[in-house]
Amino acid sequence: MVNSAKEVRKITQKWIEQHLADVKDFVSLGLPEIDDRYNVWRVPIVLSNATSHLIGEAKIGLLGNVMDSTRPELIRTRAKRFINEVSAPDRKRQELFYPAPIPNKVILGDAMKVLEELPPDTAQLVITSPPYYNAKPESCEFIDYQEYLNFLRGVIIRIREVLSEGRFFTINVSPVLVRRTSRSTSSKRIPIPFDVHQIMASAGFEFIDDIIWVKPEGAGWNLGRGRRFAADRQPLQYKPVSVTEYVLVYRKKTTKLIDWNIRKHYDSKLVEQSRILGDYDVTNVWHIPPGHHKRHPAVFPDELVHKLIRYYSFIDDLVLDPFAGSGTVGRVAIDMNRRFLLIDNNPKYFHPMKEELSKLAITRNIRVDYEVSDHLGEANDS
Ligand SMILES: C[S@@+](CC[C@H](N)C(=O)[O-])C[C@H]1O[C@@H](n2cnc3c(N)ncnc32)[C@H](O)[C@@H]1O
Repeated sequence: MVNSAKEVRKITQKWIEQHLADVKDFVSLGLPEIDDRYNVWRVPIVLSNATSHLIGEAKIGLLGNVMDSTRPELIRTRAKRFINEVSAPDRKRQELFYPAPIPNKVILGDAMKVLEELPPDTAQLVITSPPYYNAKPESCEFIDYQEYLNFLRGVIIRIREVLSEGRFFTINVSPVLVRRTSRSTSSKRIPIPFDVHQIMASAGFEFIDDIIWVKPEGAGWNLGRGRRFAADRQPLQYKPVSVTEYVLVYRKKTTKLIDWNIRKHYDSKLVEQSRILGDYDVTNVWHIPPGHHKRHPAVFPDELVHKLIRYYSFIDDLVLDPFAGSGTVGRVAIDMNRRFLLIDNNPKYFHPMKEELSKLAITRNIRVDYEVSDHLGEANDS
């Protein structure tokens, strides 16, 4: 009687050496499982490349015999198909990943409309912080929270179309406080990241990580949250001052492993040069002071963008920010030898961004194109 997966693997391996000697280097074994219904062990036979694609199955009886229904010819044919594919130089070249050759660009326009006009494989990384819900209740462009989520869904779905397969989408979102409207009502905290997660998952993105961006204590005190508790010290009234924001990290869904993105890159030298050497963030808690900009009220700190670009892109990749604001993503991308595509619908931010990036482009001797789209939508200040 065979009663361990290890024994079953040994039997199967021996059978492969006898019956599939010519392709044995291209196949490997999956996890053996016992099938109680037929009293056999089933051993998946997979391609020994990163796809681990299933090409057959060995059936081992409880006495250690390989059953007749295990078909070596079929497994051989499938394995050979794979061998031919990897050895055909043209096919191999075709399979390499080439991004769309898009120059650095800054567009004044509505993200939703502009994204619709971009070709597939435009972006290899997205870093963005969407406009805040209810930042200024008196001038909020969204009728209600649901409309805000619908807007985000629209943009996220379009980003999916322009982001390359298996590449990353990082989004900075945090719960927002909706202040009370009178003494008899209470303020509310809306857990935006959790609703955004639902949208990302249903739009075809796989959740990878939640980076907790911690700001120095004191950064949130001006909102007045927690003052009541600090004075009265009554249970149930406890409300901590929030000093964190989320950066949610997603990958565009694919059956391929991250290893595939690395191996299929069109230039192995760039891959090597992009390696993350030296110190790096070992945990998901990043302590970074908030960013400041003289012409924009809510900007990314350069350090945050620097880390995201470093961890989630290769040199020469294009980084997209559909809500570019002051253009932090563009400035840091230049610094890190990545291309960028920035969109913002507010002329108040577009023009200073253009001015700043043009100066930087001259000193770095790089080209940046600027475009005013027909679609401006409604400008939102946050
Ligand atoms: C939170 S800010 C982003 C700031 C940016 N991360 C930075 O570092 O400067 C959001 C930006 O989205 C822009 N925005 C709002 N609605 C937009 C839309 N429909 N299309 C494009 N940009 C939009 C706003 O003008 C604002 O500058």
